[in-house]
Amino acid sequence: MLQTFFLFLIMEKLSIAIQKSGRLSEQSLELLEESGIKLANGNRKLLSAARNFPLEAVFLRDDDIPQYVFDKVTDVGIVGENVVKEKGHELQIIERLGFARCRLSIALPKGETYSGIGDLDGKRIATSYPEILGTYLHENHLDCEIHEISGSVEIAPGIGLADAIFDIVSTGSTLISNGLREVEVVMQSEAVLVANKELSIPVRQILDKLIFRIRAVQKSKNNKYILLNAPNEKLDDIAAILPGMKSPTIMPLAEEGWSSVHSVLNENDFWDVIDKLQEHGAQGILVVPIEKMIT
Ligand code: PRP
Ligand code: ZN
Repeated sequence: MLQTFFLFLIMEKLSIAIQKSGRLSEQSLELLEESGIKLANGNRKLLSAARNFPLEAVFLRDDDIPQYVFDKVTDVGIVGENVVKEKGHELQIIERLGFARCRLSIALPKGETYSGIGDLDGKRIATSYPEILGTYLHENHLDCEIHEISGSVEIAPGIGLADAIFDIVSTGSTLISNGLREVEVVMQSEAVLVANKELSIPVRQILDKLIFRIRAVQKSKNNKYILLNAPNEKLDDIAAILPGMKSPTIMPLAEEGWSSVHSVLNENDFWDVIDKLQEHGAQGILVVPIEKMIT
């Protein structure tokens, strides 16, 4: 009995749904890889078990992922926030992943005048996101006809199927090449890690390990390691500019009166900090990527 119990624990796995192909798939796999998870037998099979982590990846169409996670066919999934919102299932958003960023917007043929949201009233709008659009129109007291189409939404106005579209915009090039102009941004979206709300304790423990790794990868991407040389009399000023993980590491150089300073810099403050460091006498500044960052 006890043995069976331990065996059960040993065999427990976290199953994760990943987009089979499309805007999220490459970066979803990359994130697992950077988290040290190696999937066996390549990718894009329906199933792929990790060799060195209790995880199994299931490759699916993105539109199906929220349902699979909600029905507990898989425990978690990586999917666009837009798809999660459209499907409306009660899922737990565990982590925003910062890739596959896009917006969902309403666009009109570019020749058409547009003076404000009221101009949309009465229009026929083609979309693959009828729920998100419907909520938005309702909130703005607009009465429009929603035409649900599953793909190539951007050609709808050109063939007379609709007056406007509501779709994903990332670079905006699809709109331009179809003679459309973005007039309202309805929501911003990015890839998110979602989970079923009722995971067993062992599965939740595996998920916590995965989250820990994902956060370390993300932190490392947002931070750089910086090394510089400074005259000793400037060290206090420089240390104040560079907080580091705790405080900067300062080591004497062979040359009398100089030190080497090491620290960690957030990407967002990067150029500001570099400017200030130079003003305060820093020299020989080196900036290097961080492979993983555990705080
Ligand atoms: C979306 C959308 C547009 C395009 C916009 O399709 O439907 O066609 O991306 O991107 P752009 O602004 O960079 O041109 P996607 O490739 O995600 O396929 P899907 O809608 O079928 O999932
Ligand atoms: Zn899709």
